[in-house]
Amino acid sequence: MQPEWVQGSTMWLRVLLTLLLCSSLEGQENSFTINSIHMEILPAQTVQNGENLTLTCIVDISTTSHTMPQHWILFYKDDVLFHNVSSMKSAESHFIPQARVYNAGIYKCTVILNNKEKTTTEYEVFVKGVSRPTVTLNKKEAIEGGDVTVHCSVPEEKAPILFTIEKFELDIKAVRQKREKTSQNKNFVMLEFTVEEQDRVIFFQCQATIISGKNVETSEHARSELVTVRESFSIPKFHISPKGMITEGDQLHIQCTIQVTHMAPAFPEIIIQKDKVIVAHNRHSNEATYSVMAMVEHNGNYTCKVETSRISKVSSIMVNITELFSKPKLESSAIRLDQGESLDLWCNVPGAPPANFTIQKEDTILSQAQNFTKKVSAWDSGTYTCIAGIGKVVKKSNTVQITVCEKLSKPKIFYDTKSEVIKGHTVKVSCQTTNGTPPISYHLLKANNILDSRNMDSHEPAVFRDNPTEDAEYQCIVDNCHSHTEMITELLPLKVVAPVEEIKLSILLNEMVESGEDIVLLCSVKKASFPITYKFYREKEVKPFHQVILNETNAVWLKPQASKKHEGQYYCTASNRANPTKNVPQSNILTVRVFLAPWKKGLIALVVIGVIIAILVLGARCYFLKKAKAKQMPVEMSRPAVPLLTSSNEKVLSDASTEANRPYGTAMVFCSY
Ligand SMILES: *[C@@H]1O[C@H](CO)[C@@H](O)[C@H](O)[C@H]1NC(C)=O
Ligand SMILES: *[C@@H]1O[C@H](CO)[C@@H](O)[C@H](O)[C@H]1NC(C)=O
Ligand SMILES: *[C@@H]1O[C@H](CO)[C@@H](O)[C@H](O)[C@H]1NC(C)=O
Ligand SMILES: *[C@@H]1O[C@H](CO)[C@@H](O)[C@H](O)[C@H]1NC(C)=O
Ligand SMILES: *[C@@H]1O[C@H](CO)[C@@H](O)[C@H](O)[C@H]1NC(C)=O
Ligand SMILES: *[C@@H]1O[C@H](CO)[C@@H](O)[C@H](O)[C@H]1NC(C)=O
Ligand SMILES: *[C@@H]1O[C@H](CO)[C@@H](O)[C@H](O)[C@H]1NC(C)=O
Repeated sequence: MQPEWVQGSTMWLRVLLTLLLCSSLEGQENSFTINSIHMEILPAQTVQNGENLTLTCIVDISTTSHTMPQHWILFYKDDVLFHNVSSMKSAESHFIPQARVYNAGIYKCTVILNNKEKTTTEYEVFVKGVSRPTVTLNKKEAIEGGDVTVHCSVPEEKAPILFTIEKFELDIKAVRQKREKTSQNKNFVMLEFTVEEQDRVIFFQCQATIISGKNVETSEHARSELVTVRESFSIPKFHISPKGMITEGDQLHIQCTIQVTHMAPAFPEIIIQKDKVIVAHNRHSNEATYSVMAMVEHNGNYTCKVETSRISKVSSIMVNITELFSKPKLESSAIRLDQGESLDLWCNVPGAPPANFTIQKEDTILSQAQNFTKKVSAWDSGTYTCIAGIGKVVKKSNTVQITVCEKLSKPKIFYDTKSEVIKGHTVKVSCQTTNGTPPISYHLLKANNILDSRNMDSHEPAVFRDNPTEDAEYQCIVDNCHSHTEMITELLPLKVVAPVEEIKLSILLNEMVESGEDIVLLCSVKKASFPITYKFYREKEVKPFHQVILNETNAVWLKPQASKKHEGQYYCTASNRANPTKNVPQSNILTVRVFLAPWKKGLIALVVIGVIIAILVLGARCYFLKKAKAKQMPVEMSRPAVPLLTSSNEKVLSDASTEANRPYGTAMVFCSY
């Protein structure tokens, strides 16, 4: 039950629709609408390869017209339009006779009516299976090493197609060879197969595989006709002589033969191998032979290989040779001997059969007997072997390495320099012995400690390097393989000269020297080798004023009774033979001052004061004398000038004579000016 107002509104809607319809009818135009569209696939969406397939597109259209309007129906596969039809029917079909894998895919159809269109949903169509391929061969008979061409095709299908072709041996029924090839453009392939050596009667199988979307569809196997294979040459055969037991010394023949058909494309090569070593080969005949005097070394597995470019046939055989006698054994009394000792070598064959023996050093025969004895010298070092022979069979023994040691001669020790070296410099100490079997070991001793060791493979000197800082004594201990005790060199002393390094100039007592006292300059150095040359310089003078060579770390220069002229700046140099002449070390610069003694200064002051007093006294006296004369002046001034002068002179002289204090007479003369 609908509420009353809803019923009312639907009623109104009907009225409105009717009005609209009437108005369109009144305009003489038909109305269309597509109600639905779908597809029917027969017999099913999944069909077997080769089945007929029908796709039908069904549309439902409503119209105001009396007839069905003209419309388009379009068929799509994988979004690609493949069929379109203009129709006035409600259903249109597309017929696919004998559907193949390439027909599988996603189908849909679309209807277009004026400007309206509608499309179905997507329908996936599967085609199961691939039609069986056809296989053909280019021949029915083949020769080993030849070819067979296999042609496989699926004419109904479209590329790309993967073909799998297998080769079978009729009797074995197992796959002998398998090859795959995808044909991108064609629905067939042609593959060439080589006929191998084991092939007798062969056939081929072909299978086609097509990938469609996510599906992989595979055909059944198609089988070819049979191919008969002809051998080009037989499997090789061995012939060993002598037949039966083979003993060392016999002439051994190992022969390998084959049979070759006249049809063979190429003549094969025959190779006889023993443990990867080719012992015989032949390219031009149907046999190869290895001939050798039988020895146990020839025991083993022999392989005969017959090869053309493509075919290789192999067979192998074990050869067993009986030993005539064992390998001889060489023994020695010692392998390391001192020169002059006796070397005994003896050779024997286990079981002691009667044999001929040869003992040799390298390639030189020493003895034709079983035993060999010798007092050895250094030349006898080397490799010894023994050879035993019975009839033609000759065998070599083990090798014995003999070392003969020559005694060392008294070793020498020497330097590359004179007997001294400057501190900090490297000295090369060499030790050498000119005789004795190398390798020679040298140990350098310094203050009874081993400093370094050398092994020399010749009589060249062993050279050691050292950096001595003080006087040292070197010695070498020398040894070699000889059994005597090691040899020792004499002691080799070395003087190490220390150059002058720190040098200082000082003055004894004080840098201020009283005149008349002594100047004592001390030039001192710190730890240097003697003798040392000291030179004393005044600054700005090129030549030293004092020079002395001493076995002391200091030198003194003394100047008695110094005076002002000895004032100045001084320095000294010191050097010994370790100092390079161009770079002699120089001391600090010392400033020396000379001054007067206090009593001398006093004396001078006293003299100066005395002189001043005397001048003052004289001055006073002059003053008083002048004053006294000035009182007499009025009388004498009336006198004529010249007589006055003479008379006054006389007067002064007479006055002077009356004076008790004579020395002042001169002062008087001085004053009268
Ligand atoms: C498939 O269609 C063909 C005609 O195209 C017809 O001759 C054939 O009989 C049909 N096959 C089947 C199985 O319906
Ligand atoms: C259908 O195909 C015809 C010719 O084959 C073409 O002219 C026409 O345009 C096509 N219709 C549509 C809707 O694609
Ligand atoms: C000899 O050697 C061949 C090739 O290496 C091998 O196939 C065969 O088994 C061997 N024969 C024997 C008896 O060892
Ligand atoms: C070779 O022959 C000897 C006896 O003649 C036998 O003892 C030995 O085992 C054989 N060796 C091989 C490898 O056949
Ligand atoms: C060779 O020397 C060995 C060992 O010294 C001795 O036993 C043997 O009798 C010697 N043989 C000969 C032929 O001198
Ligand atoms: C040793 O050598 C001599 C001379 O060559 C020979 O006559 C003799 O047969 C040999 N002996 C053996 C055991 O080979
Ligand atoms: C220094 O000493 C050496 C060796 O002791 C001596 O030969 C040399 O005369 C001395 N020199 C002086 C200046 O005393």
